[in-house]
Amino acid sequence: MADQSVSTQRLFRDMAGRFATGVTVVTLRDSGEGLGMTANAFSSVSLDPPLVLVCIDKGASAYPSMQAAEGFAVNILSRQQDELSSFLARTGRGEDGDAMGGFAFRDGANGSPILDGTLGWLDCRPCERYDGGDHTIGVGEVVDFELLQPDGDPLLFFSGGYRALSAGG
Ligand SMILES: Cc1cc2nc3c(=O)[nH]c(=O)nc-3n(C[C@H](O)[C@H](O)[C@H](O)COP(=O)(O)O)c2cc1C
Repeated sequence: MADQSVSTQRLFRDMAGRFATGVTVVTLRDSGEGLGMTANAFSSVSLDPPLVLVCIDKGASAYPSMQAAEGFAVNILSRQQDELSSFLARTGRGEDGDAMGGFAFRDGANGSPILDGTLGWLDCRPCERYDGGDHTIGVGEVVDFELLQPDGDPLLFFSGGYRALSAGG
């Protein structure tokens, strides 16, 4: 697997995409400017202390800001937030000077933007970074969090597209 052809990489993406996930937006402030990036490579790690991880592409435009940030928030998206997810995954966003694209947010205690309409959010302090190939695995300690919609439906990502929970059994 070390020397991968393009088709093997494609197959690996397809394979990894068969793991259904929720969708988050990682937000932070860089020199006062709010910044958000859609990320589904998120996981809770530890309960005590409360730790989470997010994997960030080293080639992402937000990567330098993520590396330098003294705090970040993870916003867990609800079913209705696919448009927000797509906007914050788009290259060239913020050309109109509004990095959050007009989506409503407020500042968390540590300044990271907390988006409206999510299932909940976790405000984090970066504590460890691990090399993960073309990504960096960033571990954050949760310093504050809020569960906003205990019964709300999540936005899901599966096989390259957004999905919703189905009620069927
Ligand atoms: C559903 C979804 C999940 C994503 N998850 C991640 C992720 O976990 N980590 C990551 O680095 N990029 C992730 N991305 C890609 C980034 O959101 C973004 O598109 C990418 O960094 C390109 O942005 P740029 O052109 O500003 O660099 C995801 C995109 C989508 C649509």
